[in-house]
Amino acid sequence: MNYTLITGACGGLGGAFVRLLAERGEPLFLTGREEMRLQTLAENLHAEHPELQIEYFPCDLADGRSRSRFFAYADRVNARFSRLIYVAGADVQKGFEKYTEEKLVMQTRVNFEGAVSFTRAVMARSDLDGSTQFLAVGSVSGLYPMPYFALYSATKKALWQFYAALRVELIGRAKVTCVLPGAIPTRDDVKEYIKKQGLWGKLAALPPEKVAAKSLEAVQKNRRSVTVGFWNKMMRLFTAPIPLSLKMKFIAKKWKKTEKDAF
Ligand SMILES: NC(=O)c1ccc[n+]([C@@H]2O[C@H](COP(=O)([O-])OP(=O)(O)OC[C@H]3O[C@@H](n4cnc5c(N)ncnc54)[C@H](OP(=O)(O)O)[C@@H]3O)[C@@H](O)[C@H]2O)c1
Repeated sequence: MNYTLITGACGGLGGAFVRLLAERGEPLFLTGREEMRLQTLAENLHAEHPELQIEYFPCDLADGRSRSRFFAYADRVNARFSRLIYVAGADVQKGFEKYTEEKLVMQTRVNFEGAVSFTRAVMARSDLDGSTQFLAVGSVSGLYPMPYFALYSATKKALWQFYAALRVELIGRAKVTCVLPGAIPTRDDVKEYIKKQGLWGKLAALPPEKVAAKSLEAVQKNRRSVTVGFWNKMMRLFTAPIPLSLKMKFIAKKWKKTEKDAF
């Protein structure tokens, strides 16, 4: 059986991918950290779509042994993959001095190491016949270095660059896209944070369903990367010629007092 593998399946954006693909009847292999949440998600999906093929297995993406257990299970059930959607990410945001060692290791691993590790493991279990798809969720925060959001921004940039290079290595064998969303009202703290940004937040925000649909369209077209939303596209275009030092001054002022730590 060929599955679409979705990480972060129980999260806000991951859930939107799950619902969209379930509507299309695509076989799904779901993962997140908590088995109970995955089980409930699978049961709800089965209640709505009784014919849907669903597998799930928990995985802590920051832990190499947990990742190995995940793929050992996938092999036991003879799973093959036609698509990877790497949605999982930890958007910890604060001044770097405030990080603990544990937190920085976790964020780096979930956002980057887990993504490249899952990509390799899925490549080994795919036909790579031109139709296989790899979609990673980056962020517009990866466009520029972001003081007070520095580690998140750096991991998303690394993911974006890795996917851009991999796309060339896999040309003709797989479609490889990194999507760069702006704000997505998912968790309550993220909704609150978008609200606090006033008009800026309103313009930059797009519902998870729309981000998921645009992302799937982009990978179908084998786009290298896609910035989702008109405002975010304009911001990318119009900020490009501004000197980096000026951009970072503005970012530092904007983010200095903002903190997020849901993980
Ligand atoms: N919301 C935004 O404004 C925004 C903007 C740009 C980009 N993004 C990106 O979009 C993606 C989804 O974010 P979201 O807003 O939907 O947030 P979310 O609801 O908090 O989803 C994050 C997901 O990451 C998973 N995750 C975190 N640490 C993990 C770990 N160690 N092992 C396995 N899974 C782990 C979580 O899984 P469990 O909790 O189920 O284990 C959760 O499902 C992230 O990559 C984020 O960086 C978000």
